[in-house]
Amino acid sequence: MEILRSKKEMQAWSEGVLAQGLTIGLVPTMGYFHQGHLSLMEKGRPLCNRLVVSIFVNPTQFGENEDLDAYPIDIERDIELAGKTGVDAVFLPTRDDMYAPGFQTYVELTDLPNHLCGKFRPIHFKGVATVVTKLFNIVKPQVAVFGQKDYQQLQVIRRLTRDLDWNIRIEAGEIFREPDGLAMSSRNTYLSEEERSSALSLSKALERARQAVAEGTRDVTTLEQDVIRFISSFAHTTVEYAEFCHPQTLENVSTVEGKTLLALAVRVGNTRLIDNTVIDPDN
Ligand code: PAJ
Repeated sequence: MEILRSKKEMQAWSEGVLAQGLTIGLVPTMGYFHQGHLSLMEKGRPLCNRLVVSIFVNPTQFGENEDLDAYPIDIERDIELAGKTGVDAVFLPTRDDMYAPGFQTYVELTDLPNHLCGKFRPIHFKGVATVVTKLFNIVKPQVAVFGQKDYQQLQVIRRLTRDLDWNIRIEAGEIFREPDGLAMSSRNTYLSEEERSSALSLSKALERARQAVAEGTRDVTTLEQDVIRFISSFAHTTVEYAEFCHPQTLENVSTVEGKTLLALAVRVGNTRLIDNTVIDPDN
């Protein structure tokens, strides 16, 4: 497995692969791998000839009071896990290489970031869209894999890819969960034992809402109130949002008709957790 530590090395490697008529797959990450990340690599592996994983804790997608400086890092372990998962190259750029002095060009979407997480993290999706644009330009993939865990991010990337005319296939990986239902996240390591059990309220609330819809409830106000009340009954939780939305535009809906996204963001202690599910009332 190749370890490429600069944009220049990465670009040269990709150009060599493409010159041989081979295809490149990319899994962008911020590292500190868990099984969710590895499942995206496994999904990407058969879709391309050469699979690249990027590890870059992107400063432009973190707000001032967010966890950029605390974000967990273990590059050696990540490299070992990527190797075992059949990755061909790990791209590990430095911050200075990605954002050289004088950097001033950003990529921004007009509508999708006005919903869900974007309302609470105003610069987040601008940072994500910018770094993913750069990664696509540097790595030159024909396919890229993103997780549905970050549902809004996935929609942003799909839109971005279409709007900027990249010929890159965007594949979505399902949410990988702990055996008890908690969605895997690098941020789960921040949770105390007590918080860890309250964190289960998210996946339980999604299941509860799914059940209520299956039993005939369609009114979103009723469903949202129940979700918020349920999660709030767990210690240390503060619901940031619990919203039912159109699965592509992310616009709020007032009744569950057709496939509907239920997305949650909850603070458990100081840790912000997200989870979601798409509910189909006809199935
Ligand atoms: P990061 O949080 O490291 O996540 C990397 C990828 O793993 C994302 O596509 C995310 O949706 C996916 N992922 C995270 N938890 C998952 C889970 N439990 N199951 C399945 N997939 C999961 O998302 C980012 O990094 C960054 O914003 C990035 C896209 C790399 C841009 O900086």
